Amino acid sequence: MQFTSVKEAMNKGSGKIALRGWVYRERKSNKFIFLVVRDATEIIQCVVKRDSVDDKMWNAAEKILIETSVELEGTIKKDERAPTGYEVQVEKLNVVHYADPFPITKDQGAEFLADNRHLWLRSRKMTAIMKVRSTVFGAIHEYFRSNGFYEFQSPIFQTTQSEGGSTLFSVDYFGKPVYLAQTWQLYAEPAIFSLEKIYCIAPSFRAEKSKTSRHLTEYWHAEMEVAWADFEEIQNHAEGLIKHVAKKVLESNEDDLKLLERDMKTLKATVTKPFPRITYTEALKILEKKNKMKVQWGKDLRTVEEDELVKHYDTPVIVTRYPKAVKAFYMKEDPENPDVVLGCDVLGPEGYGELVGGSEREDKTEKIERRLKEMGENPDNYKFYLDTRKYGSVPHGGFGMGVERLISWICGLETIKDAIAFPRTMERYTP
Ligand code: 4AD
Ligand code: MG
Repeated sequence: MQFTSVKEAMNKGSGKIALRGWVYRERKSNKFIFLVVRDATEIIQCVVKRDSVDDKMWNAAEKILIETSVELEGTIKKDERAPTGYEVQVEKLNVVHYADPFPITKDQGAEFLADNRHLWLRSRKMTAIMKVRSTVFGAIHEYFRSNGFYEFQSPIFQTTQSEGGSTLFSVDYFGKPVYLAQTWQLYAEPAIFSLEKIYCIAPSFRAEKSKTSRHLTEYWHAEMEVAWADFEEIQNHAEGLIKHVAKKVLESNEDDLKLLERDMKTLKATVTKPFPRITYTEALKILEKKNKMKVQWGKDLRTVEEDELVKHYDTPVIVTRYPKAVKAFYMKEDPENPDVVLGCDVLGPEGYGELVGGSEREDKTEKIERRLKEMGENPDNYKFYLDTRKYGSVPHGGFGMGVERLISWICGLETIKDAIAFPRTMERYTP
């Protein structure tokens, strides 16, 4: 017989089926052996009945422990009492591999599960999250490709910082120091002069010394860069991208979101409602008026302030025109107010923090050089980057989206570590 997935077998609903997978739960009595079998699609209760199988099969089934891999044939029927509403009466059983006693049992602590991440990936929770993650990656590619972007790759070994020296990972490159990429941006900007509209999804690295639920040291970064784009257009793409991803997940992963007990209110609102766009200065006014929080103009918004601000919205909110001093050296000065930059952060709903950071790019070489020097950087190291402003410079800009931040919000996770299979943080780099 041909194997089907558990889901396909359940869709069939009756008659003979053949399944293969892993034993997720087992319960034995002297008359019945109940095996809940899981595959990538679902779980299903299977029953081996003492009086309808031979000794050999009964004995084989009796030795089964959790995570034993099996192939089986049998008859499926509806059964209200079974965990997913169907039961298979097993007629043929082939044990592919008897599992050792599985170390993960009920009520294990977070550290134990993290140490056994390679096994915990089999859990229903992690399986659901990884399915959402797969949809998210697919939807990002889809959004950019259907909007005329080319996929473009940049180096991971880089010779300068771009998002601040304090989070650089240094690597010994044949005796010379180089750094792991914080962003593709400085290498993407040169490429818009040939391809105009580009994007990538790649790992970025940040030596974050903070132990928060939002920071990884290695995360996946979806970035884009566009020639001829103004500030408005960059924000439109950030909003369009998040809307498209949210829509795709709602269409494709309803079961997974249910398993994760995700309230879908903000996801649904995100698909249909325009994202509010407010300036940094307006954000300070809202915080003062509605939250009684006084932030001194010029100071960056802290996590607590961002979290309070987003409580007023049920979709992501775009905050623009931050003070120059708190943003990266490459952001364009606002022609109408030299104290602020044409930069934007998209803050996720429900306290999931900054999902996207973007900007229009400064085109005046002197301004970039001055800001690099203020940071203690030597502009000579950025010659290749400054060259982009010398030969037919055009207005341009882009953004970067933290893919795990987005997944964290979509799935309603307590920590960003669960948005990636093998998280890397300051304290965790194994397995
Ligand atoms: O705001 P950031 O630092 O912006 C850049 O890197 C720009 N060069 C992007 C660009 O314009 N091409 O990072 C972008 C996003 C943040 O908004 C956040 O979602 C995510 O990357 N991010 C992190 N995600 C997980 N762990 C970390 N340590 C992160 N640091 C940033
Ligand atoms: Mg940022």
